[in-house]
Amino acid sequence: IKKKKHKSRSKKEDANLYFIILLAAVFVLVVLIFRSTPSEVANLPKPDFRPSCAKNEFRIINMTSCHEILYCDAIFHNVEKGSYFNKGKTKKMQYGVWEGRRVAVAHSITSKVINTKADFNEHVTNLFRLQSPFVTQLIGFCNVSRIFFTEYHKRGSLDTYLNSNEHITSDATERLRLAVSYLKTLNFLHNQTEGSLVVCDSNDLKGALQNYLVTSDRRVILNDMDDLPLVNRYGKLIQCKHQVNGDFMFKQSR
Ligand SMILES: *[C@@H]1O[C@H](CO)[C@@H](O)[C@H](O)[C@H]1NC(C)=O
Ligand SMILES: *[C@@H]1O[C@H](CO)[C@@H](O)[C@H](O)[C@H]1NC(C)=O
Ligand SMILES: *[C@@H]1O[C@H](CO)[C@@H](O)[C@H](O)[C@H]1NC(C)=O
Repeated sequence: IKKKKHKSRSKKEDANLYFIILLAAVFVLVVLIFRSTPSEVANLPKPDFRPSCAKNEFRIINMTSCHEILYCDAIFHNVEKGSYFNKGKTKKMQYGVWEGRRVAVAHSITSKVINTKADFNEHVTNLFRLQSPFVTQLIGFCNVSRIFFTEYHKRGSLDTYLNSNEHITSDATERLRLAVSYLKTLNFLHNQTEGSLVVCDSNDLKGALQNYLVTSDRRVILNDMDDLPLVNRYGKLIQCKHQVNGDFMFKQSR
């Protein structure tokens, strides 16, 4: 029995060693990738805008200055609404036009299984506090009718972009660049002062890719923020609201 115990322990130690070597390899790879970005960034098309606005402001397409976020009144009087273009688990998306510029309008879906109000509040709160080049811009929201507006990105989600006919998406350099951009966004989420934010609804590849949008200058930014639990570094486990099954399930939520 003693021998057996000893054997299994050394196997465990072996496994630990392999894991550490793997981590080190990943670390070296990430460092190499990040070091190689400045020259890649120089090759990128110029972005349409540079969001440098305060958190309660936005600036899209050809705007020359930042504008305060729109509230219910402005939304109902100044935004024309068009057709629907997407429907998810918690919201449906509609085209909108504000002062000649296309925007995306998100409506909460009323449902018995989903707490619409809590989802809406969480989404808008997250959008508001995370405003940065790593997430989609918030343009306006209206609490009473549970709608919010974000910047419209015509390339669509990362899933749509990777499966599109755009010639560039089959290019290995472009794919690596997208992966680095995705890592930068993850790093932003994982490196918040209060801890790490984890993107839920990532339990299968398609779902994971659909949480992100591709901007006109081909950056990967987070769009879906209604389930973004905070994980502190002292052993608190990730708890998602809607996760049911999929290939990338967290073990503890099975
Ligand atoms: C900005 O673009 C919109 C269409 O996207 C157009 O209607 C508007 O006139 C443009 N404004 C300026 C100042 O170029
Ligand atoms: C909308 O609801 C959010 C979350 O409940 C709240 O923090 C915010 O103050 C409300 N905003 C307005 C304009 O009513
Ligand atoms: C994490 O954030 C801190 C504080 O904002 C910053 O100093 C640090 O460089 C960031 N780390 C990474 C890996 O980006």
